[in-house]
Amino acid sequence: MQLTDNTILITGGASGIGRGLAEAFHKLGNKVIIAGRRKALLDEVITANPGMEGIELDINDPASIQEVATTLISRYPSLNVLVNNAGIMPFDDAAGHIDDATMIGTITTNFMGPIRLTSALIEHLKSQPRSVIINNTSVLAFVPLACNAVYSATKAALHSYSLSQRFTLLGTSVSVQEIAPPWVNTDLIHKGDDPRAMPLDAFIEQTMVGLATDVPEVVVDAIRPLRDNPGSQEHALIHGFNQSVVENPIPVG
Ligand SMILES: NC(=O)c1ccc[n+]([C@@H]2O[C@H](COP(=O)([O-])OP(=O)(O)OC[C@H]3O[C@@H](n4cnc5c(N)ncnc54)[C@H](OP(=O)(O)O)[C@@H]3O)[C@@H](O)[C@H]2O)c1
Repeated sequence: MQLTDNTILITGGASGIGRGLAEAFHKLGNKVIIAGRRKALLDEVITANPGMEGIELDINDPASIQEVATTLISRYPSLNVLVNNAGIMPFDDAAGHIDDATMIGTITTNFMGPIRLTSALIEHLKSQPRSVIINNTSVLAFVPLACNAVYSATKAALHSYSLSQRFTLLGTSVSVQEIAPPWVNTDLIHKGDDPRAMPLDAFIEQTMVGLATDVPEVVVDAIRPLRDNPGSQEHALIHGFNQSVVENPIPVG
């Protein structure tokens, strides 16, 4: 994508990866609007980045999505980039009881939310000379983490949806890029000093380089072997990956 002269909406833009991307795009002179539920946090980030704007959004609520889309289109008619980044990652136990509310919340936030928000903005995006939809999935879309089974499945679903979106939008002014991050050191599950988590700054730096190249999928080098999992022979890889996490558990809390 072209990294400059854009008007960009980033969901979940007040923290972690969303904030990192928001600040990187802001530094390049783009108009950046961050969205999320925590108004105080949105205010803190926009105060730290003069010119950036914020809007309250609950991606779980179709009415909130519609209201935000209508407001943004009238307030920022040049809006041409949507970054579907907001997400949650609860732990679960696919071998046991699955809490219904948590499951629905995860699917609604991570999968239905991006579909609904994109749907609410798509005609506007098509009306712009060049637009980009960026969907933030995960390496876990390709190699599921068994202790986050529902989460991993939502990311696989969003990856699949992105493929269909990219194809169906061919011939329009809208392109689709996917970001599939590795474990990045954010508050998503536990922000600590685990050496397996990639520092946020390094992740944002590599991701911006990838986004600039127009590749359909931005994957940092460290997780290339997991992304390129061996198709129908994937079971041993997935077993080994999860066994390594069982032996070195992810700290929670
Ligand atoms: N960190 C990683 O290791 C990693 C790896 C692969 C993929 N990802 C993906 O990267 C994205 C960002 O995660 P992160 O690591 O940066 O963690 P994070 O700091 O916890 O960011 C998640 C963001 O999503 C927003 N959000 C959650 N529920 C929402 C809702 N109902 N409505 C609106 N916004 C909502 C949160 O804002 P509010 O709470 O203020 O609403 C928050 O800003 C997620 O989609 C995640 O799955 C992260």
